[in-house]
Amino acid sequence: MKKTRSKSGKIKAVYPGSFDPVTRGHIDVARRAIFVFDEVVIAVINNPSKKTRFSVGERISMLKKSLAAEGLGKIRVDSFEGLLAHYMKTIKAGIIVRGLRAVSDFEYEFQMALMNRELAPDIETVFFMTDAKYAYLSSSIVKEVASLGGDVSSAVPAAAAALLRKQK
Ligand code: PNS
Repeated sequence: MKKTRSKSGKIKAVYPGSFDPVTRGHIDVARRAIFVFDEVVIAVINNPSKKTRFSVGERISMLKKSLAAEGLGKIRVDSFEGLLAHYMKTIKAGIIVRGLRAVSDFEYEFQMALMNRELAPDIETVFFMTDAKYAYLSSSIVKEVASLGGDVSSAVPAAAAALLRKQK
């Protein structure tokens, strides 16, 4: 019997990722998740061996500002190191949320979901389809366009656009 719900009957979900930087697609997925689950925690990975454009602190700050601006301040932002399955257990969360944009996302997501199930059979991964208008968006493409002087304000929340401009 899965223990997806807490003792109070609430479902806590974790939306993990690099968020380097957060995009409007990420915010769209977070909004869909909080519509379904009682509690959603966005968990920013802190992986010192992986080079990111923004520090964990900057990524958390961008997320917090963007969520507040969208009226999604109910969503908590945290960071984690190491295995996601271990972090999930630490904060007693039963659902992993991930976004899907296109079929090309499927293979990687499928692999991660099955590995996480192997590591923690009680934890379920749930996918949300992003709005079609964000299907082309990724943090990598945003970074490339911004570094070459392109306008990314339609792709990322204002807080991320400001930091991208500053760090160009
Ligand atoms: O936004 P991303 O970069 O696609 O997010 C990937 C992330 C952070 C969710 C994934 O790399 C992860 O969960 N890393 C933690 C290490 C882990 O648990 N690995 C085993 C599951 S694949």
